[in-house]
Amino acid sequence: MGAEVVVEGLTKSFGRQTIWRDVTLTLPPGEVSVLLGPSGTGKSVFLKSMIGLLKPDRGKCVVNGVDIVRCGERKLYEIRKLFGVLFQDGALFGSMNLYDNVAFPLREHTKKSETEIRRIVLEKLEMTGLAGAEKKLPGEISGGMRKRAGLARALVLDPEIILVDEPDSGLDPVRTTYISQLFLDVNAQSDATFLIVTHNINLARTVPDNLGMLFRKELVMFGPREVLLTSEEPAVKQFLNGRMDGPIGMSEEKDSATMAAERAMFDAGHHAGGVEEVVGIPPQMQPAPGLPVRQGAIRRKDRVMQILHTLPSAAQEGIIESLTPEEQAHYGVHPHHRVETPSWDRTVEMTSVPRHHQGELPAEQVARLPRPGGHRRGDPGPEQLP
Ligand SMILES: Nc1ncnc2c1ncn2[C@@H]1O[C@H](COP(=O)(O)OP(=O)(O)O)[C@@H](O)[C@H]1O
Ligand SMILES: [Mg+2]
Repeated sequence: MGAEVVVEGLTKSFGRQTIWRDVTLTLPPGEVSVLLGPSGTGKSVFLKSMIGLLKPDRGKCVVNGVDIVRCGERKLYEIRKLFGVLFQDGALFGSMNLYDNVAFPLREHTKKSETEIRRIVLEKLEMTGLAGAEKKLPGEISGGMRKRAGLARALVLDPEIILVDEPDSGLDPVRTTYISQLFLDVNAQSDATFLIVTHNINLARTVPDNLGMLFRKELVMFGPREVLLTSEEPAVKQFLNGRMDGPIGMSEEKDSATMAAERAMFDAGHHAGGVEEVVGIPPQMQPAPGLPVRQGAIRRKDRVMQILHTLPSAAQEGIIESLTPEEQAHYGVHPHHRVETPSWDRTVEMTSVPRHHQGELPAEQVARLPRPGGHRRGDPGPEQLP
């Protein structure tokens, strides 16, 4: 099983520029997580911080009991071997053929014989659909092949955690779906923990178990994908629909004057871009037929059902609907169940969760959009002010 990664209160600045602050999330072992965010929100900086290539100012990133932010060089070197990283451009050595590129980490970090190395390299090239391309140089192949070669190289040390930076950059939608399929196939075969950072909406909708979003220098939310996909947060909805209409602007967030001016324009009929509003939760992509069932997906089901009562009702409903009738019976839930709420409230459409599961949403699970001007966790939000 892949390793769990616990990130707590992570903050990173360059000089006086804060990139993001107080990022707290847990990557559950063997599950596939996606972190969305507009360009420039610090997604690449986040990945680099997770492997100790950049030093955050505050906070922790703990893997197997070791805090990567604070540990010494020696420990860091050891812990890095648990990670396989697929950088945005594949980061291949241009003068080496694919075979040598993929063999590189094995020659560098292990004492394996060339026979053993050959077996592993050919296996990973086969796994990533590159069998027969061993002799090609990175400059002679397509962007999609370079990414797959980067993935093959990331896999040779059998990583427990796989980090992927913008897998779709430079790829057409079809190739992007193929590489997404490959991630799920690799996950099914290895049970490695995945974190993919991207601004690709389709990938975010159909690939991950968990989904989060960086915006305004904070993590807007992170949790089961159903939470973000059914969220009513303006920035999240705008992003998922790729529209101009909302708080995200051309290069940065918008101020309220710009938003109001644009609002008037869209109300007057100007097309806000994007396609028709996408609502609901599309089915998750599955490993290719014949591959093992994803163990991470099985564990996730139990995990999510345990926290179901803490999730917003639209997310609960989506999760319940994604279960088979047998699973619904097993967990004692059923969709579209109208429950009578106390007489002082009105009757609302709710998903049925066991009584003992109906509780308050813990503060840290509430979808919380950071506000301009530095509204911070623990501060009373405007809604709580008299
Ligand atoms: N080594 C660095 N030194 C200074 N600023 C940096 C460095 N790396 C990234 N940045 C800044 O951090 C911000 C986030 O960058 P990045 O992580 O690349 O965004 P994303 O990957 O989300 O598009 C950018 O404003 C970028 O200029
Ligand atoms: Mg980036």
